[in-house]
Amino acid sequence: MANQLAEVRLPEGWAPDSWQARPAKQLATYPDAQALDSVLGQLAGLPPLVTSWEVNQLREEIAEAQAGRRFVLQGGDCAESFSECTSSIITNRLKVLLQMSLILVHGLEMPVVRVGRFAGQYAKPRSSDSETRDGITLPSYRGDIINSPEFTAESRIPDPQRLLRAHARSAMTMNFVRSLVDSGFADLHHPEYWDLSWVEHSPLADEFKRITNDVGSSLRFLETLSGRAVGSLKRVDFYTGHEALHLHYEQAMTRQVPRQWGWYDLSTHFPWIGMRTADLDGAHMEFFRGLRNPLGIKVGPAMTPQHLRDLLQQLNPDNEPGRITLIHRMGADKIADHLPALIETVQASNALVLWVCDPMHGNTESARSGFKTRQFTKIQSELEQAFDIHERMGSRLGGVHLELTGENVTECTGGARDLSDEDLSRAYKSNVDPRLNYEQALEMAMVITRHKRGIK
Ligand code: PEP
Ligand code: CO
Repeated sequence: MANQLAEVRLPEGWAPDSWQARPAKQLATYPDAQALDSVLGQLAGLPPLVTSWEVNQLREEIAEAQAGRRFVLQGGDCAESFSECTSSIITNRLKVLLQMSLILVHGLEMPVVRVGRFAGQYAKPRSSDSETRDGITLPSYRGDIINSPEFTAESRIPDPQRLLRAHARSAMTMNFVRSLVDSGFADLHHPEYWDLSWVEHSPLADEFKRITNDVGSSLRFLETLSGRAVGSLKRVDFYTGHEALHLHYEQAMTRQVPRQWGWYDLSTHFPWIGMRTADLDGAHMEFFRGLRNPLGIKVGPAMTPQHLRDLLQQLNPDNEPGRITLIHRMGADKIADHLPALIETVQASNALVLWVCDPMHGNTESARSGFKTRQFTKIQSELEQAFDIHERMGSRLGGVHLELTGENVTECTGGARDLSDEDLSRAYKSNVDPRLNYEQALEMAMVITRHKRGIK
């Protein structure tokens, strides 16, 4: 690894604040600039949330996924909220991600890299700067790190103190996840620790039971064969990821580390650029260029081959393995038209990337009842098309990015219980995008493994 790093160039003209000279989209305007500066000063002195070793480890694991030896599972809320930083919500989300990864490990027969959309997913890009209800117009809600969702003038004012609360909530989430993982919660010998009460009554219960039994007997077989416990399986690693939208916050968390080369954004292992902020000359692109973290880039239907080529050149001029993950989010009706040209671009430039499919964000629609929703069949269709298109073109889909929760919400329609538009009002909790509930999330993991095994 040391040799490989030596070949990577320091980004020319880059500094943690060089993004400030570029046009920045989607940033909040704080009424009190001094208060913001004072908070940023405090943040810069607070401990980081992750370490550079972990960041490097994830980069190496993504490099292996690029080579076809691992599969990446990314998932969590569209937006975390301060009020939902609770023991049960964090544990349930961890459970559903562990269960999904068990299904994927079993079905795909390869290690799964788990990257949560949590411990920092507090900033949201919005399509409109303002929101109007009953003739009253207020600034949009931009995520708990900036303002509050209540529809009052007071709540919608960006408040810098929220940056400190976001840091603290992220640290609490991280701390709890690490403790759970360290104390054996994620031990593959005990998938019963992750049981959610619904499993017994679910139409998917039998399939899930069969998979856990299978994994259990494989583990026992291995242990009998080798004469000792399969120790490393007691611990399952979790990485964190979030959209690095709030550049002031990300800059304050970007540090140099003794005995490591370059700059690390230590607010998370895996920052990504959203679709709305990936302009080539924009502030977000400039900021990302200088980070040592593995980088995610959301790719929507408007992305042109030329834009993608330039973007890869800017973000990864040395074609470093593990550095770039392209997360495409086209929509079930558009993927067949838009993805192939982008795959060709990557192939023609020999760029090393990991392709991940986000089948959520291109399939958002309004239900008749007015709720923002997504249909399970469309999500499934985009994902299945993605696997097929990559395979047909000699490329490889190496991961999936989902919005999900461990709670029994009714936000997306369809799935094994066939939720309808009428069911949405029963337990619609998201402030932003609709998430798969735990059952739909597990079913999606089963869809992936069935599809990959040719059982359609
Ligand atoms: C998101 O991931 O919540 C999001 C806003 O995605 P995108 O940038 O792909 O629209
Ligand atoms: Co979203």
